[in-house]
Amino acid sequence: MECMPGKESRIDDEKGDNMDTVEPGTGLTPREKNALRDTWAVVMQDKRKNGFLFFKKFFEMFPKMQGYFKFRDVELNDLEENATFKLHAGKVFTQINNMVENLDNVPELVGIIKGVGSDHAPNGITAEAFENLRDAFLAFLVERMSATITPFQKTSWEKVMGVIVALAQDGFNSAKGTQ
Ligand code: HEM
Repeated sequence: MECMPGKESRIDDEKGDNMDTVEPGTGLTPREKNALRDTWAVVMQDKRKNGFLFFKKFFEMFPKMQGYFKFRDVELNDLEENATFKLHAGKVFTQINNMVENLDNVPELVGIIKGVGSDHAPNGITAEAFENLRDAFLAFLVERMSATITPFQKTSWEKVMGVIVALAQDGFNSAKGTQ
């Protein structure tokens, strides 16, 4: 098929998969999912450091959020070497990694994200905290990858974070019995 510059939707590879077709379950296209996988792989190359930098950004932007954790009294710059923090940050990134690995498996993905929401119901947080986390994650990503991140990769993350927040809040509110 002839290439049609400027067309939103086009056939991209020899198999004829349409890289710009929105998949109903997630609202994401295969091209967006690839953008998420590519950028996440870079983050995971230095999981420990990036875990620290992400949470530092989260607590700088929303200081109240640190108050929900056992390491609430630890100075931001000391978190990097704090054993409780390191364990927790590792678990959070493993959980996000689970989501990225299941982008093609919608039922599993939805279950993981709603589960994150319901698991947080006893933690004292509010549903809005997930929106704070979204904003901090996007800020962390853009800052950390400023030299390499493309506008398309950035908007792909904005889109998936919207999906994550909505589903996590859904799970959270169901577990709280507020819906
Ligand atoms: C995509 C969003 C999130 C993911 C993937 C995530 C992931 C996790 C994971 C894996 C744990 C550890 C559970 C365990 O130890 O078994 C955890 C615990 C926790 N999370 Fe989140 N979380 C998210 C959002 C949030 C938000 C927005 C807050 C708000 C402050 C939050 C606060 C907490 C707290 C307070 C704990 C308990 C920590 C402890 O005392 O051990 N999380 N989270």
